[in-house]
Amino acid sequence: MKLFVTGGAGFIGSNFIFYLRKAHPDYQIVCLDSLTYAGNLMTLKDVLKDPSFRFVKIDIADRAAVFALFEEEKPDVVVNFAAESHVDRSIKNPEVFLQTNVLGTSVLMDACRAFGVSRFHQVSTDEVYGDLPLDRPDLFFTEKTPLHTSSPYSASKASADLLVMAYHRTYGLPVTISRCSNNYGPYQFPEKLIPLMIFNAVNGKPLPVYGDGKNVRDWLFVEDHCRAIDLILQKGKVGEVYNVGGHNEKSNLEVVQTIIDAVGKGDIRFVKDRAGHDRRYAIDPKKISDELGWLPETPFAKGIESTIRWYLANEDWMNDIFSGAYRTYYDKIFG
Ligand code: NAD
Ligand code: TYD
Repeated sequence: MKLFVTGGAGFIGSNFIFYLRKAHPDYQIVCLDSLTYAGNLMTLKDVLKDPSFRFVKIDIADRAAVFALFEEEKPDVVVNFAAESHVDRSIKNPEVFLQTNVLGTSVLMDACRAFGVSRFHQVSTDEVYGDLPLDRPDLFFTEKTPLHTSSPYSASKASADLLVMAYHRTYGLPVTISRCSNNYGPYQFPEKLIPLMIFNAVNGKPLPVYGDGKNVRDWLFVEDHCRAIDLILQKGKVGEVYNVGGHNEKSNLEVVQTIIDAVGKGDIRFVKDRAGHDRRYAIDPKKISDELGWLPETPFAKGIESTIRWYLANEDWMNDIFSGAYRTYYDKIFG
């Protein structure tokens, strides 16, 4: 079995590669990543020498390069994590989100059609459903919730999802989609809430909380997400969407306070709210748990504790990002 994992030098993609090494040591993995600011090859340093692993620096929107790699490697399965993933950046510059998240996805699927794969899996997000009000804790996103996006990021991901379903219906491409809630865990780029707050708390910098800090996210430990994707690849039905999340709703203030308590210091600063800021995300995971037997295994209290411990023990990983050293690692390894 040969898998293409796109975006594998990013947060979830790298965790997925580590998960696969353990769960399916017989798989051949080819990681496709263009190493944007969010891609960090140092994260993958332990697998780079593995003979069943190959890293290829490639932009998923580069049609000629993608087709050439498909021709050379002939993957059985493609799992697409590659994306521009940060909402704040999408507000400043939407165009690259369309280029990678929409066009890049269509290029990958065209290559899948041309060379044939048994599955194209699109890693999507609960943000395609928009948001829920804070005063209706009875409401959750199901797979039938209409797409209703708020940010250029979520609009680009929803566009990709529509294209994926269109390729299934029009061309019979064997696709699946997972829509997951907010992930946390090791190797997350420190522009996202949890690693940023840990870094700032440790370094005595203010912790910038947007608006009133009452926005709610449904936090899932990254390994639980990886296991869900693996299950969908094994047992998921082609043409189906699966929501992934774990009834771990927390307000941003609760999350930040947990970090302050664990680090032992931290100074909250309320700052201007994000434009179009989604209020609440909450997943109903009934379909994936009824049909595929998936349930989150890591309670938030345990996952956040081990995550904070990981960042504290791996300050070098974070410092290499802030110093920019991680950007030169590819040249060091591949010349
Ligand atoms: P990330 O920003 O940490 O990593 C993205 C990776 O994609 C990076 O390694 C980057 O170099 C690579 N990439 C970007 N543009 C590329 C291109 N044109 N060609 C090749 N590679 C490219 O993102 P993440 O948090 O790991 O998210 C991975 C996927 O999961 C995304 O599709 C995201 O929408 C989705 N998702 C994320 C979360 C979350 O909480 N982080 C939740 C649900 C879904
Ligand atoms: P983020 O990690 O960017 O994920 P997403 O926007 O995809 O949910 O943000 C999580 C929440 O934290 C979101 O409500 C915005 C908020 N936030 C802050 O309050 N301050 C920050 O510095 C960041 C990065 C996020």
